Amino acid sequence: MLSGKHIILGITGGIAAYKSVTLLRLLVKRGAEVQVVITPSGKEFITPVTLSALSGKPVICDFFTANTGEWHSHVDLGLWADAMVIAPATACTIAKMAHGVADNMLVTTYLSAKAPVFVAPAMDLDMMAHPSTTANISLLRSYGNHIIEPAAGELASHLIGKGRMEEPEEIVRVLDEFFSRPMPLAGKKMLITAGPTYERIDPVRFIGNFSTGKMGYAIADAAAALGAEVTVVSGPVSIKPTQPSVKVIDVESAREMHAKCIELFPGSDIAVMCAAVADYTPANPATTKIKREHSDIPVIELVKNPDIAAALGAIKKPDQKVVGFALETDNEEQNAREKLQRKHLDMIVLNSLRDPKAGFGTDTNKVTLIDCAGNATHFPVKSKQEVAMDIINAIMDL
Ligand code: CTP
Repeated sequence: MLSGKHIILGITGGIAAYKSVTLLRLLVKRGAEVQVVITPSGKEFITPVTLSALSGKPVICDFFTANTGEWHSHVDLGLWADAMVIAPATACTIAKMAHGVADNMLVTTYLSAKAPVFVAPAMDLDMMAHPSTTANISLLRSYGNHIIEPAAGELASHLIGKGRMEEPEEIVRVLDEFFSRPMPLAGKKMLITAGPTYERIDPVRFIGNFSTGKMGYAIADAAAALGAEVTVVSGPVSIKPTQPSVKVIDVESAREMHAKCIELFPGSDIAVMCAAVADYTPANPATTKIKREHSDIPVIELVKNPDIAAALGAIKKPDQKVVGFALETDNEEQNAREKLQRKHLDMIVLNSLRDPKAGFGTDTNKVTLIDCAGNATHFPVKSKQEVAMDIINAIMDL
């Protein structure tokens, strides 16, 4: 599975760098094209000459080649790669990656990489166990990076514990497994709305809601991990997708979200309408700030926003699917079934605000999936990531 894959091998300054030579050899033997990026301290442990001889490419360490002034584009490298593997990853580089300290070519390339990133930590057992390292590794996980856990054993310090970089054969096995994972949504284009919409009252105030986008982004990540080409049309949120391939288009208001969805839907196979779209918007938003002293108590006249889910339901072709959400406070199932019919949806995901572990901002959700034949499947409380997988599985059944 690694044949023809473009792999960036990042090497940092640790004793385990000697194992990177074997890792590089194994990757090249399997037909991968490998570009080595090394940190300045990595060069203290392993020579670029060995690495360039084995990879057949000049090793990149600096932003510029000193004698020619040629700039090494970390952006181009990041786009070229199918995967980036950082092995060994020292505590220092992990910390820089976690906090975006882009002071060398390896970390800038990491920050630009669109491809999945695999990190093989290697350090002494006390460094590995330090809360700072564990917190930084958790941050990398939260960015969607794959951590190849170090093994326990005798370390360079002769102490015995966890911190040995995983063996090159095992790292190659992890990569192989990643590239051979099933991709049931490969070739499918998915459009997802997420987050709230903001409807401007004046330049500083808006009507909004408590949606954080967590559910929509979890669906986006789950679908992208299964090979879908995902575009999220997102209202204002403070989160990001963890899958680098997910494309996010930021919008503010329901009308902007509607316009983007109408534009993108004809090229999509599946639309998942997860956004909490404001149903109404101020008819005449003020162009300057409404002042307390100079105005009577303002009356804000509202007009209806377009119903995006219904608009897509009305224009969908037989091979397109539209999935909606219903967040209800009462009469839940009946309201959800009505919305399913009215908006011509193929499935609706019902969640109730009466469930304390469901709804806005929570990390969990409790949903009932109702398909257009009227079948309802009730799920228990799960993490939003697990709920996202349940929704994706149900979409695949559609
Ligand atoms: N929706 C939409 N555009 C709107 C309102 C809702 O696309 N203007 C979508 C939501 O993203 C969700 C579904 O329609 O997928 C149901 O949203 P909800 O707010 O529960 O339903 P409404 O039709 O707005 O009905 P109500 O607010 O009266 O419950």
